Amino acid sequence: MSDKKVQIIYESKNKHNKKVAEGIAKKMNFPVADVKEGLVLENVDFLFIVGGWYDDSSNPELLSYIKNIKSGAVKHAALITVAHNYDMYQTFVAKLLREKNIDLVGERICPGRFLFFQIGHPNNGDINYMVEFIKEILGMPKY
Ligand SMILES: Cc1cc2nc3c(=O)[nH]c(=O)nc-3n(C[C@H](O)[C@H](O)[C@H](O)COP(=O)(O)O)c2cc1C
Repeated sequence: MSDKKVQIIYESKNKHNKKVAEGIAKKMNFPVADVKEGLVLENVDFLFIVGGWYDDSSNPELLSYIKNIKSGAVKHAALITVAHNYDMYQTFVAKLLREKNIDLVGERICPGRFLFFQIGHPNNGDINYMVEFIKEILGMPKY
């Protein structure tokens, strides 16, 4: 898989997604960018999109970033979601990816602290859980 171009992007209001995105990037040695940086994607084989869930939707900044991805710039994408509820998939992001003909290969969710719930998350175990997910997608050995 070393010939494949991988990019991680994230949005984060309260740094949970930032922690997971940067944690994965560090462990896997992949490039990572906050969507606020406005990185222009080109020739990406696998895009990992790390995002939260706010008031039953995704962060509008993330949605607008996805809308602006140039046609043909990304082949495959996977969603990494840090949210309070485990059934909160990034459905709006998934819809935009479909509209752009970007192949959505999967989504994995881990807990993110919200008020008094899931205190301490996301933690190193959650980051490792996402690293395993990425390795599965990229066909890399787990150990
Ligand atoms: C204003 C606000 C609204 C939220 N609404 C939801 C929600 O509707 N469903 C959910 O599962 N989590 C919700 N959460 C929890 C966040 O998705 C969760 O804390 C996530 O880890 C935040 O990531 P961040 O710190 O990177 O912004 C909400 C959090 C905030 C701050």
